[in-house]
Amino acid sequence: MAMNTPLIQKRLKEIVGSENVLDTPEARIAFSYDATAGLSSMPLAAIRPSSAEQISAIVSLANEERFPLVARGSGTGLSGGALPLNNAVVVLMNHWNHILEIDEENLTVTVEPGVITGQLHQTVEKRGLLYPPDPGSSTICTLGGNVAENAGGLRGLKYGVTKNYVLGMQVVLPTGEILNTGGKMVKDVAGYNLKDILVGSEGTLGILTRIILRLIPKPETSRTLLAFFPTMNDAAKTVSAIIAAKITPAMLEFLDNTTIRCVEDYAHLGLPIDAAAMLLVEVDGRNAIIEEDALLVTDICNKNNATSVKMAATEQESIKLKAARRSAFTSLARVKPTTIMEDVGVPRSRLPELVARINEIARKHDVMIGNFGHAGDGNLHPNYLTDSRNKEEYARAEKTVFEVEETAINLGGTITGEHGIGLYKKPLLEKMVGSPAIQMMRTLKTMMDPNNIMNPGKIFELKPRCEGRLPQEREQIKKFEDVAWI
Ligand code: LAC
Ligand code: ZN
Repeated sequence: MAMNTPLIQKRLKEIVGSENVLDTPEARIAFSYDATAGLSSMPLAAIRPSSAEQISAIVSLANEERFPLVARGSGTGLSGGALPLNNAVVVLMNHWNHILEIDEENLTVTVEPGVITGQLHQTVEKRGLLYPPDPGSSTICTLGGNVAENAGGLRGLKYGVTKNYVLGMQVVLPTGEILNTGGKMVKDVAGYNLKDILVGSEGTLGILTRIILRLIPKPETSRTLLAFFPTMNDAAKTVSAIIAAKITPAMLEFLDNTTIRCVEDYAHLGLPIDAAAMLLVEVDGRNAIIEEDALLVTDICNKNNATSVKMAATEQESIKLKAARRSAFTSLARVKPTTIMEDVGVPRSRLPELVARINEIARKHDVMIGNFGHAGDGNLHPNYLTDSRNKEEYARAEKTVFEVEETAINLGGTITGEHGIGLYKKPLLEKMVGSPAIQMMRTLKTMMDPNNIMNPGKIFELKPRCEGRLPQEREQIKKFEDVAWI
């Protein structure tokens, strides 16, 4: 479908003001990619709206002129979700960065979607409260992106993920209507749970303009431990033993040898570079019991052959120990020009099997790999260190990605634990969730977004691919492709 670009640009400027339409080549390049390796697509423009009403007007224009919209926060997504396909207009939301209200009586916080997750952490913690979801990118990612992707993070095992903390939201729907759903209630079963359909919908069902999140009291204290193991199996046995001892750590994170080496090379933390695996464990709770839990964890690590166990003595030291884990992605990304960050998940007990299979597959295709992730959640991030400029090498890495995803499915797991399907994982979604589920998603999307203007081309194809279809049907699908497909 041909777009009337000058008209669209003119009308966008009328809605948000010309100073808020960024359409220079530099601006368009800046918003043509997110944190996903190997993907980029030029937007028509990026715009900076300042009210829900402006966004509603933009959405109405998109429906009239049939151009796609993609909301964007910090662009830290790892599945290509914020990529503006088909000349989409990028709707920038990172300047919507106000914490509107902290309600200490109801334990809620109301935020604009551009608030940085780490800033919310700091603000509420000063008041003795905690917002538990803690994505690896918490110092830069935004809460709107977290809700759109149902982001997980380092505290999933004990506290759950973003969806467990979203109580309500205001969202501009793909029709331009403004929907308010949920609120500050702990209990609310009035009608279908629309909020939970929108959480994790990856920007395909609306643009968030306000979010109400649940807070919890900040645990009195915490202890952070770092343990190193001579084999992967010892680390895996430690994870199982901690769970069997009925301890639920706030963090139970894992780094393999390649990642330990890369982190040490980058951050110089004094990590033992010969260790096969590192576990980062954080227990939190009441003063009276936390020392006991930390000692029990130390004991379990030692019984499972840990070569060293270090407990942070101060808050500063704890931050330093966690820095090793937090810098994993950055450290691995320095090794080669392209880092493909994977996000598979399995039932926790099958994680050792998954790691072993991944290493086998990587060896078979001769791909360099660094594994780290959320051991307590069974959620692993294998990182394929490659070079997209070398076609043959990159093809081997992509083959590895595909086989690892299939392996996760075969182990009863998922192709994404927390980064989303976006563009990157689309080809395997149907295999993962089955055809009735995909059909239900398509029906929902078509019903809510009849002109397919809201982040089209993400998560699933709107219609099955046309291979093997009758020629006339293929033609019809092709017409549709202009807007909807990549
Ligand atoms: C992390 C992000 C990459 O776990 O999910 O650091
Ligand atoms: Zn992660």
